Amino acid sequence: MCKPGQTRRDRDVSDAIPSGSARMKVTRPLSLILGHDRAWPSKRPLTSIGVLARLALAMTGIFSPAPSGIHILSHPLAASFLTEIRDQTASRHLVRHHLRALGLLLFYEATRDLSQHPVRVTTPLTEADGARIAVSVGLVPILRAGLGMVDGILEVLPEAKVFHLGVFRDEKTLEPVEYYSKLAQHKPVDVAFVIDPMLATGGSATAAVSRLKSWGVKRIKFLGVFAAPEGVTKLTSAHPDVEIHLCAVDTRLNDKGYIVPGMGDAGDRQFSGE
Ligand code: URA
Repeated sequence: MCKPGQTRRDRDVSDAIPSGSARMKVTRPLSLILGHDRAWPSKRPLTSIGVLARLALAMTGIFSPAPSGIHILSHPLAASFLTEIRDQTASRHLVRHHLRALGLLLFYEATRDLSQHPVRVTTPLTEADGARIAVSVGLVPILRAGLGMVDGILEVLPEAKVFHLGVFRDEKTLEPVEYYSKLAQHKPVDVAFVIDPMLATGGSATAAVSRLKSWGVKRIKFLGVFAAPEGVTKLTSAHPDVEIHLCAVDTRLNDKGYIVPGMGDAGDRQFSGE
């Protein structure tokens, strides 16, 4: 039986969110905790302390809701893929496969509110009413780790444009440095998805969103697999209008800026690690 205010889906997932955070247990209706019921973009700016505190409390299941505009993917496939790529013995092949699949699952959730326009088509039998996506969509993978999530998305939206953005993290300052972008040569898309499996310090994601805004993009969403609370705070504080879709918010960053427990270096795990 659903409790008052609880949907069937809320009830089904109310025992546990199978996210990457082993400690993440949810006892509240999911829509309340994750803010699925809120309109995009969020109108409520969030302070850093507010975001951190509410995220931490939501992760322990003590208090909800978590900040609006942050969505944690709740799906058994996502939970299983996430667990497997955390494992340091996972092969490159498996890591690539799972990141590609997680990219697709995240995109599927993040595009629920894409604008459509009605169309009429003629079938072999008669006419039928339907809908087509009414906006131009841009995928903005942050090089190089974001690349692995793009191909899965292109399978469901092959006409999406892809704008690679090269941002590396200065190992000393941990600040983002842009080294590759072709954005200026193109007309801005209507909706852009910044893609990076690791939302660690939040520096690259925040810089990427600023870059897209100055290019002229009005709606921006972020797709990531693992996040540190620090990264979520930085991105939401700088850009409260950007919706964030993640598979897991992990415990912390270590002193080298890696997400703990995380999956290590997402670029190396996909492309060049031993
Ligand atoms: N980038 C990675 O590849 N992994 C982390 O844990 C953090 C940033």
